[in-house]
Amino acid sequence: MNSFKHLSVSIDDQKVATVTLNSADRALNVFDEELLSEIQTVVSQFDTQRDLSLIVFRSGKQSGFLAGADVAHIMSIKTAEAANDALVQGQTLFSAIAALKIPTVAVIHGVCLGGGLEFAMSCRFRIALDIASTKLGLPETQLGLIPGWGGTQRLPAIVGLTQAMTMILQGTQLSADEAFKAGLIDALASAENTEADVNSFLDECRSTSPPKHRSENLLKWLTEKTWPGQAILFAIARRRLGHRGKHYPALAAALRAMEVGLSKGLDAGLREERTQFCSIVFHPTTRNLLELFSQRERARKASTWIPATHSNHAPIETIAVIGGGTMGAGIAQLALTRGYRVVLRELNLELAAAGEKRVLDLLNAAERKGALDLDKAAAARNALTVTTEWAPVCDADLVIEAIVEKLHVKQSLFKDLDAHLPERTIFASNTSALSITEMASVTKRADRIAGLHFFNPVHKMPLVEVVKARNTSPETLETLLEFTRALGKTPVVVAEGPGFLVNRVLFSYLDEAVRLVLDGVPVSEVDREAKRFGMPMGPLELMDTVGLDIAADVAGTLAILDADASPTSEFLNGLVRRGIKGQKTGSGFYTYSKGRRGEVANLGITSGSVTPRISSRRIGDETFSGIQLRLVGSLINASAQTLQAGIVSEPWMVDLGMVLGTGFPPFRGGPLRLAESWGHDTVRQVLGDLAKTLGPRFESCEWFGIKTAVGQDSSPVLRNSSVPSATCFNKESHNVHNHRT
Ligand code: NAI
Repeated sequence: MNSFKHLSVSIDDQKVATVTLNSADRALNVFDEELLSEIQTVVSQFDTQRDLSLIVFRSGKQSGFLAGADVAHIMSIKTAEAANDALVQGQTLFSAIAALKIPTVAVIHGVCLGGGLEFAMSCRFRIALDIASTKLGLPETQLGLIPGWGGTQRLPAIVGLTQAMTMILQGTQLSADEAFKAGLIDALASAENTEADVNSFLDECRSTSPPKHRSENLLKWLTEKTWPGQAILFAIARRRLGHRGKHYPALAAALRAMEVGLSKGLDAGLREERTQFCSIVFHPTTRNLLELFSQRERARKASTWIPATHSNHAPIETIAVIGGGTMGAGIAQLALTRGYRVVLRELNLELAAAGEKRVLDLLNAAERKGALDLDKAAAARNALTVTTEWAPVCDADLVIEAIVEKLHVKQSLFKDLDAHLPERTIFASNTSALSITEMASVTKRADRIAGLHFFNPVHKMPLVEVVKARNTSPETLETLLEFTRALGKTPVVVAEGPGFLVNRVLFSYLDEAVRLVLDGVPVSEVDREAKRFGMPMGPLELMDTVGLDIAADVAGTLAILDADASPTSEFLNGLVRRGIKGQKTGSGFYTYSKGRRGEVANLGITSGSVTPRISSRRIGDETFSGIQLRLVGSLINASAQTLQAGIVSEPWMVDLGMVLGTGFPPFRGGPLRLAESWGHDTVRQVLGDLAKTLGPRFESCEWFGIKTAVGQDSSPVLRNSSVPSATCFNKESHNVHNHRT
């Protein structure tokens, strides 16, 4: 055998060949041209080596089996012919593996996604290690693509059409146990006896009675294997796509490829898979989703945000969380699941017990869902200390406060922390909108203080805003970026300013939603139009979920940014005074019963005679209603203002923050990417027309006048630094016409 760069081959005395994949210079195995062609070489040599009894593919990386195709390579493909060639290469290889006379086995642990699973499915047998990090799936549609190396053909053949549709259309990733139950793998290897379990499975695979693939029951056979059954399943799937199908063309493309494969056979199916892939790979949605993927990767590198500090900071091992409410408990649970020791401090024993229960409930839920192994869950529980004292807090390398959102209370806590804790300890605040610089001002360690703004619910939301206060040192930022990454979150570094990045933009949009209601637009219509635009939830329902009291507070904090006085804070406070606080009180913009949304609530606002009325407008090939123009216009303008104010330094940072922090429709790529697709002249016209009718809040941000194209930052004040610099909480310094360096 030749020697290879990304894999090694060994053959034992039982004539079992083992191919161990180990992508050079990468933490994960990823399919690039080199790895593909090395596997190709191995497979063609095996094809002529008839004396082998078994061929085993496994990974030499702890991180997992194979993470799929190199996304950077997909993004670099410029023509449909080049895309087709790349697909032919993978499809041919996997068909060759599937056609080998010698039995083949994939031994899977950790990630086995996309091209990795397509590869594993071309093997005759699969066994997976039963640990929480094992994930099998075809997530391509999440990137606007479809599986292109036979996934749309082999997955339905192995797990059945219904399961395959769910996995491909929703990008669902299965745990080892779920994959076994679905028939995607033939056996499970336990964490305790991995090698013994794998070896006995391998013996079985090369024996005269190899493992049998699962057979279907009659009903499943009728619905999945007969033409009428399949036709019904495809019709149901297409109907369910609804709006999503319009926004995400990959979904219909995947269905078509599966359909052709089932009706005309594997070769026709593979051809259709290539045709469909090539028809969507350059679609704007796909480009936006791929762009977001690479932005996420970029955000996770500390060098994106700060120059190398070369500091040898002590690792974070123990964190103290002050306040065991919604956010504190969420942060504590996340840190515990990631192997940190956590000290949770509360005000008194009763509150401490309530905080501890919140953390344990979250850990139990994670364990129930299989997100946490039994052992890891037990270790996490052991690593938690709950206290009302200072002594245990003093061991912490990092303190995160998540107490009430009042500056003077937080300042008093920071003063105490400064007095009790060693000099080296870093302090972080989870504040949604208050000034970290002002909190730091009462301590002697302003360089070791920053914001870590998690979103609710902590275990689900992928974004953390890392807030750089006036004196935060690069070393502190670097430590916090590393910590955020270790928690599995994506950081965006932001400068100070009311609401930082996400809440500032989000609340401008929520404010507009309230104004629409006050102008006479029915609550349900505002929410419906936002969802038609692609938002996951209407803005008014979102406010009910967050709590109208919290929304009123944040609206009040952000009022200093208003170009024209907003009635929102006063209106919401009026509701709060009447006990109407949204979902938690059973009534807000909607009524709620047992946590489920009911009818629109009667808030005594007259709907119907809408003034002023904004006409709909066609932009590109899409028509936006007047309501959508107001909502989206406010989002786009506020997004540009965050750049103008120096909260972040590049447009992609706003886009990524809004998609990850608020669910802004990923297919649109983010608010500034959307503005880019409209063209800045159009943005100025749309905003100008809105400003004429509705007031100066819609006056187009100056940034739209000076910016030329995404990726070419022509903003002179921002170009030289990716570390945001604005540290201001007063109206003057946020004047959009008066930016600071
Ligand atoms: P919460 O009211 O649920 O919990 C606050 C907890 O802090 C309470 O259990 C209280 O007893 C405790 N506490 C107050 N003062 C304390 C002190 N001096 N020492 C120890 N414990 C103390 O509040 P929540 O929602 O968890 O918010 C906490 C912070 O996180 C606030 O700054 C909030 O703005 C921010 N935040 C909240 C989000 C949310 O959706 N709830 C989202 C993002 C940030």
